[in-house]
Amino acid sequence: MAYNARIRRPEFLLSLEQVNSIAGAFGREMAEGLAGRDSSLKMLPSFLTVPDGTEQGRFIAVDFGGSYIRALDVQLDQGKAGILGYQKKALPAAGSASELFGFAAGLVAGLVSPGSYLGHTFSFPCRQVDVNTAYLLTWTKEITTPGVEGQDINRLLHRELAAQGSPVRPVAILNDTVGTLLTAAYNDPHADIAVICGTGHNACYLEPCSPITGRPMIINMESGNFNKLPYTVFDEQLDAASDKPGRQRLEKMAAGGYLGELARLVIVELMAQKILQGADGLTLFGRPYSLTTADIAGWVAQGSVNPWLGERGQAAWSEEQSRLIVPVCREIMLRSAQLAAAAILGTIKHLDPGLAREHTIAIDGSLYEKAAGYAGEVERTISASLGEKAGQVKLKLVKDGSGIGAAIAAAIACKEEV
Ligand code: BGC
Repeated sequence: MAYNARIRRPEFLLSLEQVNSIAGAFGREMAEGLAGRDSSLKMLPSFLTVPDGTEQGRFIAVDFGGSYIRALDVQLDQGKAGILGYQKKALPAAGSASELFGFAAGLVAGLVSPGSYLGHTFSFPCRQVDVNTAYLLTWTKEITTPGVEGQDINRLLHRELAAQGSPVRPVAILNDTVGTLLTAAYNDPHADIAVICGTGHNACYLEPCSPITGRPMIINMESGNFNKLPYTVFDEQLDAASDKPGRQRLEKMAAGGYLGELARLVIVELMAQKILQGADGLTLFGRPYSLTTADIAGWVAQGSVNPWLGERGQAAWSEEQSRLIVPVCREIMLRSAQLAAAAILGTIKHLDPGLAREHTIAIDGSLYEKAAGYAGEVERTISASLGEKAGQVKLKLVKDGSGIGAAIAAAIACKEEV
């Protein structure tokens, strides 16, 4: 690991050479996974292709992400989508599958909507056998509700809807990356890759020739599990103490669910070495996951830790201490952006090595949308790697893809049912 002795702090940023080498390894893992060989990229089929813009009607969407569950009432009309109403609640600490999906069904019941077909964005790795049947392979994002892994997710949801007397029927299930790609492609024919840079990290793309059907299909790469990466000692430490060591290695370096914890581990180490002093370290930084990505994003945006310390009744750090920590946090955030860029570069190389056509990359997630300098770093890294061909690649923030995309998936499934 790079540990800069002169300024006495670890370094996280990647060189362009490292980014290119990660992109190369990513492309190779894609090919292995697609061919059904051992790979850290699961390359899961979605049984969906991109919409053609003619999908229309009113549909219910359930968006089951990392931090919240939402139910939405969505109107689709010839390439335009509108959210007519929604209910949103924090994910409960549920003790059983029935409690969890009963909670989601309750949100659907709270919608005033004439829609009766439901698309379900379920943002976890699932083995899908058709557009409406997906078995959860493993929980991610440190969620552990028992009785859900291995189950047919829409069956669990349908059972709870029926138990609450709801006539609503799930007709499609999809990953949030897939929803984001569907939303972008609804009115952009160049959209063929989507990335989530939020609590979790993942990407999908439109494979022109699915090994299952021989036709175009969106593949959920579950790229958060990619593991051909240069790890720092802090990445190793975080992984070892996580719920599932060895899994989701890219996610643990790139996702909002983990960046605050990485920074906390650095701070704890610098305190142990007495490089960082002052502040009641144990109270503030002693508990795992007590420092959030939003906290460190705030430090980076303000250029100081002191307002945050002040809010917690702690004495300010010296200028020197802030100068030590704020750049580390900035680098942790920017490395995440570089890793997202490397995954995008690897995917583009697989799809179109000579960059003969245009590609729109749909991106959603709070890091990309809100963190200072993040979107710029993704763009800069891709441009630096692609050089004069960079103009073929457009990055686009696509909000609400997991809600609108679920409605588009339901519309596609209903078209196919006819
Ligand atoms: C999940 C993915 C999801 C991503 C973003 C990851 O933890 O495994 O399925 O797309 O988070 O929400």
